[in-house]
Amino acid sequence: MSDLRSPALHWQGDALALLDQRLLPAETHWHRYTDADGVAQAIRDMVVRGAPAIGIAAAYGIVLAARQLGDKASLEALRPAFATLAASRPTAVNLFWALDRMRDTAQGQGVGQGETLIRQLDTTARSIHLDDQAMNQRLADFGVALLPEGGTIYTHCNTGALATGGHGTALGVIRSAWAAGRIRGVIAGETRPWLQGSRLTSWELMQDHIPVTLVVDSAAGHLMQRGQVQAVIVGADRITANGDTANKIGTYSLAVLARHHGLPFIVAAPCSTIDPARADGQSIEIEERDGGEVRRVREQQLAPHEVPVANPAFDVTPAGLISAIVTEHGVIHAPDTDKMAAHLRHAERMAHDTNTV
Ligand code: MRU
Repeated sequence: MSDLRSPALHWQGDALALLDQRLLPAETHWHRYTDADGVAQAIRDMVVRGAPAIGIAAAYGIVLAARQLGDKASLEALRPAFATLAASRPTAVNLFWALDRMRDTAQGQGVGQGETLIRQLDTTARSIHLDDQAMNQRLADFGVALLPEGGTIYTHCNTGALATGGHGTALGVIRSAWAAGRIRGVIAGETRPWLQGSRLTSWELMQDHIPVTLVVDSAAGHLMQRGQVQAVIVGADRITANGDTANKIGTYSLAVLARHHGLPFIVAAPCSTIDPARADGQSIEIEERDGGEVRRVREQQLAPHEVPVANPAFDVTPAGLISAIVTEHGVIHAPDTDKMAAHLRHAERMAHDTNTV
C-alpha cells in the first residue's frame, strides 16, 4: 500500500516517521519508528504532540506491534502494545479514542489473526489519519464565520498541521479565515514551557504568509484591554459531556480574560476530542510533567536546580466561559450538556447516513 504523508507524520507501511517537533524551527529532523514502544516514547517525549496527531501516531504504533508479531498477531498478543501506548500521555482523549478504534478492529467479526489482522489494522490506522485531515477541513469551514470580520485573533499553543493529520483545528479555522479574507492577523502566545506558540505556530503561520505577532503569554490581558484582540480561538485535548474543555495550560486564564473583555472564546476540535462518558471536567486527569521543563529552556538552566516546580501541562476551561465549540459537524453555541448530546446525536446520524449511502 502507498505511503501516507502529513507535515509531521509519514506512514511508510512498515515504519512511522515522525518529525521531531522539539527541534523545530531550528532543525528539521525525522525519526523512524518500527515498534510500539518507540512510538509510545516519542509521544511521551513530545517528538509528536497535539491531541489528534498523538491519536494517529498511536494507531500506527498498534500496526507496528502487529507487524512484529507477524503470524502470531491477535488481539490478545497486542494487549501489551495497547497498554504501553495508553500509558504514554493521559489527558488527550484522542489517544484513547484511536486505540479504541484499533481494538474494535482487532475484535471485529471475521478479522482473524496474522496477516489478515495486520491488513485490517493498517486500513483502520490510515482511515483515522485521512479522516482527521478531512475533519479539520470541514471544521474550519464551519469555524470561519465565528471569527469577527477584520479581527485580530489570539491563539494559544499549536493546533496546526503539526498537531493533526493536516490543516489544523483552531489554526485550521484561522488558515481558512485568512484565505477567505475575513481576518486581519493573528497573535500567538508563546506557550511556556514547551513554546509551541513561538516555535511551531508562528513558524506555520509565517510559512503560509499569515501575519502573526508573537507575545509572551502574560501579555494577553494587556492586549485585550487595549482593544488589540477581537477573539480567542484554541484547540482541545478533551471536551466532556457538558462542554468543559481541557487544553494547554494557560487556556483557562485566556478564557477568563476573554469573558472580562467581552470577547468571543472559541474552541475548535473534531468529535474525536469529545469524551461523552465524562460528565464534566473536574475528573479529567491533568498530565504533570517534569519540573526540569520549567527550570530550563533546552540545556540552559534558568532557575535554581533544586527549586520545587509545579508543571501541569493542561487546564480545564468551564463550558460557561466558552462562546462556541466548533467540530466537523457544526457549531455548538454556549455549550451545555443538552446541546453537546444533541450535537453528538447529529454527528452519529451523519456517520450512519454516510455509511449507508
Ligand atoms: O502538550 P501538547 O503540545 O501536546 O498540547 C497540545 C495542545 O494543548 C493543543 O491545543 C491540543 O492538543 C489541540 S491540537 C489540535
